[in-house]
Amino acid sequence: MYRTHTCWQLSLQHLDQTITLAGWVNRIRNLGWLTFIDLRDRYGITQIAIDPANTKFSVQNWSLSDIKAEFVLQITWKVVARPSNMVNPEMKTGEIEIQPSDLLVLSTCAELPFTIDNENPVWEELRLEHRYLDLRRKSLRDTMLIRSQLYTQTIQFFDDKDFVYFETPCFTKNTPEGSREFIVPARFDQWKFFVLPQSPQQYKQMLMVAGYDRYIQLSRCFRDEDPRGDRQPEFTQVDFEMSFVQQDDVLEMIQDYFLEMTKSFPTKQVKNLTFPRYTWKWCMDNYGSDKPDLRTEDMKFTDLTEWSKVVDFSLFSGVQTVKCLVADREFWRSEIEKTLEPVIKENGGKGLLYLIFWSDWELKWPLAKYLTTESKNQFLDLTWIQSGQTAFFQFGDWSSTVSLLWALRIKLLRELQLLIDKQDMLDFAFVIDAPMFEIWSDGSLGSTHHPFTKPKDQYIPYLIELADKMRDGYALSADDIQQLTSMESDSYDIVADGYEIWGGSIRIHDQRLQHAIFTILWLTETEIEFRFWHILKCFTFGVPPHGGCAFGFDRIIMIYCNSENIREVIAFPKNQKYRDPMFGSPSEVDPQMLKELGLRVE
Ligand code: AMO
Repeated sequence: MYRTHTCWQLSLQHLDQTITLAGWVNRIRNLGWLTFIDLRDRYGITQIAIDPANTKFSVQNWSLSDIKAEFVLQITWKVVARPSNMVNPEMKTGEIEIQPSDLLVLSTCAELPFTIDNENPVWEELRLEHRYLDLRRKSLRDTMLIRSQLYTQTIQFFDDKDFVYFETPCFTKNTPEGSREFIVPARFDQWKFFVLPQSPQQYKQMLMVAGYDRYIQLSRCFRDEDPRGDRQPEFTQVDFEMSFVQQDDVLEMIQDYFLEMTKSFPTKQVKNLTFPRYTWKWCMDNYGSDKPDLRTEDMKFTDLTEWSKVVDFSLFSGVQTVKCLVADREFWRSEIEKTLEPVIKENGGKGLLYLIFWSDWELKWPLAKYLTTESKNQFLDLTWIQSGQTAFFQFGDWSSTVSLLWALRIKLLRELQLLIDKQDMLDFAFVIDAPMFEIWSDGSLGSTHHPFTKPKDQYIPYLIELADKMRDGYALSADDIQQLTSMESDSYDIVADGYEIWGGSIRIHDQRLQHAIFTILWLTETEIEFRFWHILKCFTFGVPPHGGCAFGFDRIIMIYCNSENIREVIAFPKNQKYRDPMFGSPSEVDPQMLKELGLRVE
């Protein structure tokens, strides 16, 4: 037996008992007449006091001075009380120490690339290269333990509600959910490929058809997307689906889940116990994002499109949208140019127009000279701007106007430190009724969520009729595109603290409507047959109305652990370039493997 106890278990209760501990040397302090070793395992730390004069100890051929940080030791002796002046009330084991009779070195440790026993910042690449060492550090260890606990609680929560846990395949066929996929060559079927799933979307819908009316999985998902602070190429979703439900049933389940999980974090405070519901359009109009950070409602946008028509300012003429946000501070021109305007430019905007409301109740620069008394008064009424505040404007087409102001709002939330006392606030909210379709960056029509999302009932006859016409050769007109992109869907996202953590919808369960959506997404009958015959066929065999959702498990851990970086909540993440510096992957493969696959690298 290597140990009788862990390094977090011992207390005065164990006085005079003979115990054996095993763990890593967290810290070693040699005072000459006495040497202290803090022995660490994943549970905690126990102090070992070694008195060379009065204690017999065997360290093989080692001398005590050879023992270094991160050696693995096994120590046996009796537990003794610490002298009262040495008691450490901060530690659970702070009232006792161990004076060893046997001290065995189980393993030595090479020179460390960084220290483990303190949390000094270390270059991330170095940490990722030695992740097994990084994982020994307290902050990461705490996060991993929270993650493990939430994993178990999640399974328990859904199990209590009669959900059935399924594992769906990782080798599958491409699903048009919006992200690029990773492909896996099939050796036994040369020049054919599996793809790794973006999500188990179609499998979980098939499980509804199979009659398992409540499905749950903590599923691994894979997406070949551009890196971002809250993205990884492989991540975990809490994925569930329910039959015979409407939107309210699913939203209630999500709300219950989060309220239950938050109970494990007593410092966290849920802003609204009944999560508010906002429409997608309202969020975009007022905060420029479908995942607004609502921990503070400050800097909601004011629409000034109508107002701009009475202002004799040439850049406003003929634009679709003018909006502004008011920040509660006077900014200097140089400050705006140096710190705020670059945010707009980095996001593709041209510049930043502003108005400063000086303490002397005068609107200043650069727009002020274009305002008449009347337009000025209207502006004051619309924005409620106060002395000492600054209004920032964007104008142009609606979508770039709101998204540029959103980027500026995020910068200002930091600049003005508006979230500093809100680290522990959770502003869960539902964002519902997202558009059914959107125009993607390559100009094509795509689904805003995914093509299995149900449109609002009132659009269904039009969609079926349109698809029938398209199959007869009709091409979508600009009016059709306009109509399609303004249609709402039965979708819902849950957002918190500026992150989209959960996305879902009520699904299409009518085969004809599902086929129509594929057609409207410009898929030819041959493509539909190739990509979707399995689901269209499945949908001919008795499909229950159903809906569901998936949330990014990593993102929720980020929120509970106040982490701004997804790599801090994953044991072995990829770096910012999606590489693994520890394994050195991705890497070349043995040419023989490629040969067997019938592939050649060019
Ligand atoms: P969606 O694509 O919105 O929906 O994904 C659900 C949630 O997964 C998380 N997520 C990610 N987390 C880390 N890294 C990534 N690259 C990444 N991409 C997504 C987000 C997101 O909210 N099948 C649908 C769900 C459904 O309709 O049931 C789906 O996957 O937190």
